[in-house]
Parts: sequence; structure tokens; C-alpha cells
Amino acid sequence: TPVKTKFEDPFSIVSHEMSGLAKNIASLIGSGHPTLNRVSSYYFEAEGKNVRPLIVLLMSKALAKIPRDQRTRIPIDEYDTTDQPKFAGTVSETSIAGRSVDDSLSPLRILHGINPRVILDPLSKPMDKLPEFDAENGILPKQRRLAEIVEMIHTASLLHDDVIDLSDARRGRPSGNVAFTNKMAVLAGDFLLGRASVAIARLRNSEVIELLSTTIANLVEGEFMQLKNTVLLPNADMVGSKQLPTPTGKVPTTVHEYSVASHAITHEQNVAAAFEYYLHKTYLKTASLMSKSSRAAAVLSGAELEIVEQMYDFGRNLGLCFQIVDDMLDYTANNAELGKPAGADLKLGLATAPILFAWQEQPGLGELISRKFKNPGDVELARAAVRDCQGVEKTRLMAEKYCAGALANLRVLPESDARSALELLTNSVLTRTK
Ligand code: FPP
Ligand code: MG
Ligand code: MG
Repeated sequence: TPVKTKFEDPFSIVSHEMSGLAKNIASLIGSGHPTLNRVSSYYFEAEGKNVRPLIVLLMSKALAKIPRDQRTRIPIDEYDTTDQPKFAGTVSETSIAGRSVDDSLSPLRILHGINPRVILDPLSKPMDKLPEFDAENGILPKQRRLAEIVEMIHTASLLHDDVIDLSDARRGRPSGNVAFTNKMAVLAGDFLLGRASVAIARLRNSEVIELLSTTIANLVEGEFMQLKNTVLLPNADMVGSKQLPTPTGKVPTTVHEYSVASHAITHEQNVAAAFEYYLHKTYLKTASLMSKSSRAAAVLSGAELEIVEQMYDFGRNLGLCFQIVDDMLDYTANNAELGKPAGADLKLGLATAPILFAWQEQPGLGELISRKFKNPGDVELARAAVRDCQGVEKTRLMAEKYCAGALANLRVLPESDARSALELLTNSVLTRTK
């Protein structure tokens, strides 16, 4: 097929980098265990949207248009090389971390197909050459690696997410937990995070290390907020807790007791608090990775602080828009369009923007939200309320606000094809159907 020009496909300006993404990630996640390899590469094999690396690459290209004398934070030349980290020592193929490995054909190792040589370790031979620098293109090797790292962190979170959400499909295939078991999906996610951390450290930039490590923690915090997402019970206050013995009688669980509150909370305050909680959760769960990786791309470019902060805000606005649309699609799209189960959120007990807008109009929905729609008929009632109250339309307006914010943030970048492509990407987040 003929290559599309940048007029037909604005994203083609980074198609070279995007097409190398999967191969480069593969070079970062090889392990000595064949089954681990299969599980940890599983989600990379199917066609994903690759939105996060696309953002990082387009932004890096757009940042490269800033004249060098305006990039003041760090000497830019530091990144102009395809440098590899220097190691304490390189070792021969038959040793790991400087210790020699018994390479005799151990029957168990043969049975499991384990290759002791494939170990990425600070003291072993580096397998991960940084991607090449193309001066004309302007994307720095470390920014390409950043794009790969971000996709690895995202994929790790998806492996874990599908276990938590009891999901059976992703990217049009059985989810990792279904194809390989929960245990292997969780371990493969952990492995991807470990390898991402090695790659992060090898960027040799402490600000970027902090940003990316924080996104990993933020993802977990966001997921926890979602797990505990019961909205404030109207007029309720916690009065105490008691300990219940578990079936084994060994580890007591704490049960919090609630009673009608001494102070009243108005419905409006209750809804406002729920929206605030929802948006904070959404930032942590989705926007944090986009905002902090956008900031990291700007830091690596050497851009001045004002630009760095606008890029962070861009990622934040885009990420919030992205997840709010995701929550909307859960109501409007079907399984085939999404490649994953639609209408899943209510069944999981999750109160996202459409139902919160409905609750604003119908205070009685608070009870359904608080009991996580678990009574028979709750899910159908909630769906009908969302329809009656234009919950989906209001959610779309909310997403549009963040989309506009993201477009405004981009205006600090010099005009370029890459900036136009970022604008197109931002607008298409709003109109996407999957
Ligand atoms: C997808 O959301 C999931 C996330 C955006 C993050 C999930 C984070 C964790 C499970 C915490 C563990 C994190 C790491 C880094 C291992 P969704 O369930 O709303 O979307 P979906 O419909 O695509 O499943
Ligand atoms: Mg999920
Ligand atoms: Mg989830």
C-alpha cells in the first residue's frame, strides 16, 4: 500500500517511530522464561490505539521546533547522541551479574525452555540500545524510549485492570486473565513495570524518573479510589468501627459503622463532592500518565519551565477528556465497537459522569449508587435515569471543556505539522467511537 502523505494522515509524520515501537518494546521485555514472554507480550501483539506513545512522539517533534537558544533548562547536546548507559562491567554471555552461570543442559531448564542468558540486569550486557537519533526529524532517542516506557506502563496497568474488572476481552481477543489465568496476568504486569523501571533509570534524568515513578503510584491510587467509590451517604457520618473475625478467626476485618449525621449535607454539596472525587480519580487513573509523560517529553527537550508546565496541563486536560469520553462510550457503544465489554461500569458498581449528572436531577439515585447497583433492576433503572436526564449529553459537554483546555495549552508551541497533528488528535479523542 502506498504511504500516505502528511496531508492524508497527519500522524504519518511519526509513522517511522510508531512502526518501530513494538520492536523496541520487544527488546525491553525479553525474559528467560518462555511462558512469561508469551504473557507479557500478549497485549502488544494485538492492535492497540497507542495513544500515549503517539502523544509523546508528536509532542517531542513539536517541541523540537522551539529554537535551541530558547531551550534553557539543560544543555541540549546531552541528548543528541545515541549514548548507551555505562555499566560497571560487561560480562560474557554465560554469566549473570558477573557470576558465572552453569550453562550445562539442566533437564528442568530444557523442560521449561528457560534461557538463563536472557537477563536484563544493570551488571549484564545491555540489550537495549537507545533508538537512533535523526537530526532532521528532531525526536530525541530518549523521547522515543519515553514513548516505549509509557506504553509499557499502560499495558501493565491493563493486565492488572482486567483482573480487577473481571474482564474477559481486550483488543478483540480474550483478556490476559482469561487467556493465561489471573496469577500470570498479574505477574506479567509486574514484570513489565520492572522492565519499564530499568528503562526509566537508563534515561539518566532524575526529574523524568520522578515523574514516571509517580505515574505508577498514581495509577494504583486512582484504581483504589475507584474501588472505594461509594458517594457520600446523604446525612451520614461515621460513628465508629468494630472488628469482625474472618472465617479462619485469625485476621480481623474492620467494619465501619455509620449513622445519620449530626450535620446535614445538602444534595448539591453531596453531588459536588462526588464530582470532585470522580475527577480526582480520573486524573490519577488516566490523566496522570498523559500529563506526566507530556511533561517528561518537554523536560527531555530542554524547553523552558513555562512550556514544560503547559505541556503538563495539556496532558492533564487531554487525559481527563479521554477518560470522560471512555466513560460515556460505556453507555453508548457496543461490545463489537469497543473490542471489550460495553455497559460494564454500572455492572461493576461504578458511578461515572453520566450517572452523576442523572443523580444531580434525581436525588433518589443516591441510594442505588451507594449500594453499587447491586439490587435486581438497579442497573436498568440507572440506565433509564441517565437517558431521562441527558446524562450522556452533559458528559459530552464536560469532555468538550477539557478538550478546549488542551487545545489552548498547545498554543504555546510554535506552529508546525506536529502541533497540528496534536490538535487533530485532541479533537478526535472527543469524536472517537472506540
Ligand atoms: C483502565 O480503566 C485502567 C486504567 C486506566 C488503570 C488501571 C490501574 C491499575 C489496575 C493499577 C495497577 C497499575 C499498574 C501500573 C500495574 P477501565 O477499567 O475504566 O478501562 P477498560 O474499559 O479499558 O478496562
Ligand atoms: Mg477495565
Ligand atoms: Mg478498571
